[in-house]
Amino acid sequence: MKHIFKKGNDPLKPTLLLLHGTGGTERDLLPLAEKIDKDAAILSVRGNVLENGMPRFFKRLAEGVFDEEDLIFRTNELNEFLNEAANENGFDRENIIAIGYSNGANIAASLLFHYQNALSGAILHHPMVPRSNMALPDLSGKNIFIAAGTNDPICPPEESKDLYSLLEQAKANLELHWENKGHQLTYAEVEAAAEWYRNK
Ligand code: MLT
Repeated sequence: MKHIFKKGNDPLKPTLLLLHGTGGTERDLLPLAEKIDKDAAILSVRGNVLENGMPRFFKRLAEGVFDEEDLIFRTNELNEFLNEAANENGFDRENIIAIGYSNGANIAASLLFHYQNALSGAILHHPMVPRSNMALPDLSGKNIFIAAGTNDPICPPEESKDLYSLLEQAKANLELHWENKGHQLTYAEVEAAAEWYRNK
């Protein structure tokens, strides 16, 4: 997968996996990684799917309606890519924290839903429930921060609450942060994520 890798200054720090929103690239979330942990390694990936020229991490049938078969295929593809990237770049495969926005947060959530050991934690900005009616793995010990907007028309508040409940049932350690805003990624929620990361 097309990506940027930046070695960290401290091998004990996690690798931050950056996953952009629809129409984004692997460059978009680089400033977030700086804000969260400037000493961590960065693996920033571009989604392999194109929708009218816009990169995404999996296909959708309509706004908010996911192509489940493609979601499963792409989630596996990304998980395999993480295995390869860890081997190639010599970072700890067991210590990856995803930072995703929108479509990127959705594929990160899908990694958590499908693979118990894909991620050690995640910061999910405006995620949705990636797939319903499935049994989640035991996510004990995984720290997950969710940021959502009370007026988000793309990821309605109910979606964030449902995702929270599903991850809670899977025993993850969760924090849900609300902004009185829409779908945009706000400076305030990035600050809140950075504070959560420092204290976890
Ligand atoms: C998705 O398709 O993943 C969500 O609707 C968010 C987005 O528009 O990317």
